[in-house]
Amino acid sequence: MTITALDDPLDSQQLDHQGLPLPDNVKFDNQHPSAGDCHQEILQGLRQKQKVINPKFFYDARGSALFDQITRLAEYYLTRTEQKILNTYSAEIADCCGRRSIVIEPGSGSSEKVRLLLNELRPRMYIPIDISAAPLQQAAVQLGRQFPWLRIHAICADFTDAWTLSGQLPAGKRVIFYPGSTIGNLDPHNAVNLLTHLGNWMGNGGGALIGVDLHKPTQQLQAAYDDAAGVTAAFNRNVLHHLNQLLGSDFDPTEFEHRAHYDEQLQRIEMHLVSRKAHSVNSPYGSFQFAAGETIHTENSYKYTIDGFAELAEQAGLRVMRSWLDEEKLFSVHYLEPVPHTPPA
Ligand code: AVJ
Repeated sequence: MTITALDDPLDSQQLDHQGLPLPDNVKFDNQHPSAGDCHQEILQGLRQKQKVINPKFFYDARGSALFDQITRLAEYYLTRTEQKILNTYSAEIADCCGRRSIVIEPGSGSSEKVRLLLNELRPRMYIPIDISAAPLQQAAVQLGRQFPWLRIHAICADFTDAWTLSGQLPAGKRVIFYPGSTIGNLDPHNAVNLLTHLGNWMGNGGGALIGVDLHKPTQQLQAAYDDAAGVTAAFNRNVLHHLNQLLGSDFDPTEFEHRAHYDEQLQRIEMHLVSRKAHSVNSPYGSFQFAAGETIHTENSYKYTIDGFAELAEQAGLRVMRSWLDEEKLFSVHYLEPVPHTPPA
């Protein structure tokens, strides 16, 4: 991404999703890729031997709502545990991040977690970035009303892709807030690449606060991704509704079964959609054949050890300065800074 410090053009008045004017402290910047841009990526994934869909396609409006439900499930310990860590250590966290900084949150979703830090952090600007436009705008408006002193510049974009921060970026320390173990979606190679990017965004003198889920017994992990109420199953299948919208395909989500499996070697949850029978799915771009039992791989969710995550960060030129855990060591939050370049002696 590029950060341009343009003068603020006199914005035509922006409206929220209900047509009401945005609060004065909230800006909304839509840089969402056009539907056409998504086609190639989706088609390519569905034409592979092991069919695959990028998990970012989970998050249409319904998918975002289902994910919010997941975060409240008894089995899904991640969200409440991380919230407890953020709540308990908010003052220490603010000591590390620094007050009056610019907080940038890729994949901000409903912006629930940043609330826990705002009174301590008092950022001079908050920049939530999310792929799902309506929930992002709703979250920004709510946050802006609740914290009238907070300047919010919401950006709708695929944060793994190109996006620009137009408008004024105030001077100050940049802190990347990347909670929720969103980084777990990436395989280690891509996680290093993303961390390297984050290092570039924050620049020298910046920092990052990253939430990372921890390796633990298989049973506990699998329950978190295959809950008794079937919310995760609905979330997984919903990606096919979203594909139907994007591609004009005729996936029947009920023809697919939800599967979540922890691979102890790779230390990742794999989610798949398993075709119940042999069938074909049509789209304007061609048809896709499914054998009975064939799967679409929809998500990886990597789990780390504290040391394993610190090593990953080092590969990206970042150093873990502090880590906070809950009592049961289920989840971790880390404060990182770029490793200073030491000139050769
Ligand atoms: C948002 C990627 C962190 O991997 O735990 C939850 C998504 N998938 N249940 C995760 C998810 C199934 C979640 N992340």
